[in-house]
Amino acid sequence: MIKERSSVVITGGASGIGKSLAFRFGKEGNDIIIGDIEEAALDLAISELRSEGILATGIVVDVSDLDSVRSFKEQIFSAFAPPYILCLNAGVGAGGSISESDVLDWEWVLGVNLWGVIYGLNAFLPFMEKNNNGHIVITSSIAGHLSYPNMGVYNASKHAVLSIAETLCYELQEKSTEVGVSVLCPGLVKTNILDSERNRPEILTGNVSLTEPDDHDTRKEAVREIYNLALDPDSVADLVFKAVESKQFYIFTENTFHDAIKSRHRDIELARNPMLRANLVEEHLNDTD
Ligand SMILES: NC(=O)c1ccc[n+]([C@@H]2O[C@H](COP(=O)([O-])OP(=O)(O)OC[C@H]3O[C@@H](n4cnc5c(N)ncnc54)[C@H](O)[C@@H]3O)[C@@H](O)[C@H]2O)c1
Repeated sequence: MIKERSSVVITGGASGIGKSLAFRFGKEGNDIIIGDIEEAALDLAISELRSEGILATGIVVDVSDLDSVRSFKEQIFSAFAPPYILCLNAGVGAGGSISESDVLDWEWVLGVNLWGVIYGLNAFLPFMEKNNNGHIVITSSIAGHLSYPNMGVYNASKHAVLSIAETLCYELQEKSTEVGVSVLCPGLVKTNILDSERNRPEILTGNVSLTEPDDHDTRKEAVREIYNLALDPDSVADLVFKAVESKQFYIFTENTFHDAIKSRHRDIELARNPMLRANLVEEHLNDTD
């Protein structure tokens, strides 16, 4: 249970799931600290939170940059008291096959989705363990459990952070600490993730993206249509809040991919060759039929 007022640190909280987390935890009377790379969206989110009476602070941070995360940490430690609930949530999406993905695509997505989590843990975890208090929520994805085609870069980043969260869970158990960890594994959520390119540094411009102005790729169009029907991020934030309260580790947002995950686990148990039964879009469509 979250018994005391906490400082809730949320990366990528200027939009989508992170923003909903800010509202959900803020409404419970916690101090909200959002770190995000997109300054205008961050300012807007902070003013919306404050207009609801929530104590909110915004700090510009690039989670893929170690110095930036260290400065983020220093600003938080100098102004906010523990306990901390830390949501390592900032993330970007990219689509495209592995063969068409450029090294720069890998650098950008792994930089934000994987190194962002590593730097965040490096900055906050030792302090939280020493303090024997707090909870960490790492945002992975269904893509951390499955390896759908044309999402290889993203899949790799989300498998990696799932593994980090599971390892951390065991380590915290071994230490019998009060620090908790959860891993958020959303399916499809209606956010701005398909427009992730808006935050892509020019020097990391690669080959693959989910959004291109003149993009008539039917696969990408189908994905966009499905996202319009996807889950509301507020309902995801609700699940996360309850999971933190009850110290629940795995947070799934829907059952749509349950059979596909079971089938993958069965492939591994039987050492049988992986067989594509449906892609991400088909899986979702089959479930909504
Ligand atoms: N939307 C989905 O369907 C879905 C599904 C599974 C997992 N996720 C994960 O949820 C998380 C949140 O994404 P979302 O769907 O809310 O998308 P979103 O684009 O609405 O929000 C992502 C936020 O991360 C920020 N961000 C991007 N790069 C950053 C950087 N280098 N440093 C700091 N902040 C940065 C963006 O400015 C934005 O505010 C991501 O980790 C994403 O991979 C989303």
